[in-house]
Amino acid sequence: MRAEYRILWHLPDGTTLESDGYAPLNLLAHAEILGIPLPQACGGQAECGTCRVRVLRGDLTPPSGDERVLVEDHRKQFAPDERLSCRARPRSDLELVLRRRRPRDLRED
Ligand code: FES
Repeated sequence: MRAEYRILWHLPDGTTLESDGYAPLNLLAHAEILGIPLPQACGGQAECGTCRVRVLRGDLTPPSGDERVLVEDHRKQFAPDERLSCRARPRSDLELVLRRRRPRDLRED
C-alpha cells in the first residue's frame, strides 16, 4: 500500500512520532500498526469514545452516522476538535494529539 499522507502524532508521554498515512485506513488502524497506545474499549464500534483524538491540523473523512450519534449523546465529553479514531480516515497530512489520560468509556454513563 502506498502512503498518501504524513501524520504527526503527539503521544500521551509527551513525545511525537511521524508516520505514513493511508487513505483506506482509519486512525485506529494506523495506531495499531505503529504500536501507539490508543484505547479502544469497544473494539472500534463507535460506542465507547475511548479512541478519540484531537485533530490539530488536517482533513479527515466526515463523521459517520454512529459517530454523530455518540457525540450528540455525550456532547460535553467531546472537545470541538475531537474525532473517533475508529471512524476517521485521513484526507490530508494530519497532526493529532492523544489524551494524556485515558478517556472515560461513554458506555458507563
Ligand atoms: S474504539 Fe470505541 S468508539 Fe472507537
